[in-house]
Amino acid sequence: MTRKDVAVGAKNLNELRSKFKKVESFAEIMMPHDAEEPILAPAVRAAVLEWMVEIRHAAALGDVGVKARRSALLYGPPGTGKTTLAHHLAARLGVVLVAVQSDQLVASSLGRSSHNAASLFEALRDVDGQCVVLLDEIDSIGSRRSTDDQACSREMNSLLTTLLRYVEGYSGIFVGATNRREELDPALWRRFGMQLSVDLPGLDERFAIIRRYAAPFDLPDDDIDALADATIGASPALLRQLVEGVKRRIAIAPKLNHNIPDAGAALRAVVASVAMPPEFEVPPLWRPHGVANLPAMTWPWPKMGGGK
Ligand SMILES: Nc1ncnc2c1ncn2[C@@H]1O[C@H](COP(=O)(O)OP(=O)(O)OP(=O)(O)O)[C@@H](O)[C@H]1O
Ligand SMILES: [Mg+2]
Repeated sequence: MTRKDVAVGAKNLNELRSKFKKVESFAEIMMPHDAEEPILAPAVRAAVLEWMVEIRHAAALGDVGVKARRSALLYGPPGTGKTTLAHHLAARLGVVLVAVQSDQLVASSLGRSSHNAASLFEALRDVDGQCVVLLDEIDSIGSRRSTDDQACSREMNSLLTTLLRYVEGYSGIFVGATNRREELDPALWRRFGMQLSVDLPGLDERFAIIRRYAAPFDLPDDDIDALADATIGASPALLRQLVEGVKRRIAIAPKLNHNIPDAGAALRAVVASVAMPPEFEVPPLWRPHGVANLPAMTWPWPKMGGGK
């Protein structure tokens, strides 16, 4: 995908920011030109593309008596690209992403949370159609409704009820994201026009992710293959940290008068400092002897175009 249809030019940035001023007390405004395209499994990529076409050609759907879906729930492990995808989607539609950290709506004073949700949707009404709204980490408010009558649970239940009402009535495009789908309230789950699983990457996606983040280095395919094999179970975010960790070491080593003898030494140092969250299976590279089990790799990493 390209971003040729991003409609917001730099000169309009200030104008845009002032338009979204009210929304900004609850959300981060993410600009189209800062968006990155996530590398996704083909089925998810196809579903997202189809959705974009659907949004753009709502009239064609009207001819056959159906409406374009206006919302999607993205669920999957941390660091798989849910926020990145929402941002990319907004950019492809040429609008900003209003990213609401759902727990920001939760207030400590009683009754205030629902008021926050009301204020947010009120503010959104003024910019209707000019943004995609992301309710990120929606599980922080949309957990299954509690039946005990503690004040705190009552507050959350009331926030959820208010949110459901506003979500139903909201006419713009909106996306929810969670990495705890099992905890989500079923009523909230159903409110979304589609539910998309953004899962850990397969072999081909890991290859593409490693290659993307290795730039400006151009690793031989065999080396990327070996890394992709050894990183089964790693999220894209972790793959990015791994590859960027090596690049950071390459850049810093001369300043420290430090010699990195081979790829294994660089990888071993990075593997020791980043990892998947504890509830996930440990990828082979992070297991004992994981780095030692890699085949011999090209070192130093060659630069694209043969530069040094
Ligand atoms: N599918 C992907 N392709 C390329 N890069 C990715 C992908 N997924 C994540 N990344 C990179 O990892 C980082 C974190 O991604 P992001 O915040 O979108 O994950 P998330 O699924 O929203 O995580 P969380 O569940 O913790 O909110 C970003 O810097 C992004 O560039
Ligand atoms: Mg996220």
